[in-house]
Order: sequence, then structure tokens, then C-alpha cells
Amino acid sequence: MGDPRLLAVCEPVSAFGTPELETLLADMRDTMRHLNGAGLAAPQIGVGLRVVIFGVEANPRYPEAQAVPFTVLINPRLEPLGAEMEDGWEGCLSVPGLRGLVPRYRRLRYTGVDERGDRIDREASDFHARVVQHEVDHLDGILYPRRIRDLTQFGFTETLFPGQNLADD
Ligand code: NI
Repeated sequence: MGDPRLLAVCEPVSAFGTPELETLLADMRDTMRHLNGAGLAAPQIGVGLRVVIFGVEANPRYPEAQAVPFTVLINPRLEPLGAEMEDGWEGCLSVPGLRGLVPRYRRLRYTGVDERGDRIDREASDFHARVVQHEVDHLDGILYPRRIRDLTQFGFTETLFPGQNLADD
């Protein structure tokens, strides 16, 4: 947080199957796995392209956390399904050590393409929908603290959730 590249509006990807895109996605996957995140957007590693990845495996330690299929989503568009918003705690690899309570649409449709340029068109809800909204916000230069409505609900992960050893995502 503070790097101007995280505040920029990213450019769409126009060429698919290129070595540059493959290298970017490999770097993003490595970074997300290494930092144990739920998702990552290209500007988080300094690349101003409309590329996000996300995915969460089922974790018996967090039975309430929904599994999200590993997805490469390029040039995404989001369409909320209904006006219902839901508050949930978020963290971010670009805002390490902090958590904030963020309102997001509970249900949405997301479209875009994968790394081969093949169309993606899905509906998602709850945690899956939250992760997508968080990552796509990165492509428009928005970090989650700007979405927090009540700044008393923003703090250090260790203080808010002592002993839970939560990863940044
Ligand atoms: Ni983030």
C-alpha cells in the first residue's frame, strides 16, 4: 500500500497464449502460493494488466470457509445479482497484517476469459463472490480499506483475531 501502481486503472489484455502472459501467470501463482493468499491481481506484482487469479481449497480448520475453484480471470466484468450486500472480514497481501470489515455484493455474475482466451461466465455468492470483488477492485486501483464503512472495524489481524494465525489474502 502506497505504491502508485496499486492505485492505477489497469489495461486490458489483448494477446493470449504469449510467453509474456505465461510468465506473468506463473509469477502470480508462485506469489499467491508462497504468501498463502486467496487471490492475487497483476498490479500487486507491479504489472498493470487486467489479470487476476484466485482459488481456495477446502480447509478443515475453517469449515465455514467455502472452497473456490482455482481460476485465471482476464479482462473481467462483474454484474451484481440483486442489491444485497454482506459485511465480511478481508485482508490483502498488499496491506499485510491488517483486517477490515468490508461490504460486498452477496451474489454476482462474472465474465471474462482465461489464459487461452476462452470465455468464462459464472455466478458466485458469499465468499467466492467476495474474493472476486476484492481482486477485480485491484484492477481499478481500489484497495479494500477504501471500501470499509466503519473504520472502527479495521485493525491488526493479531489483535482482532488473536491466536488464529490468519493468512493475508
Ligand atoms: Ni488484495
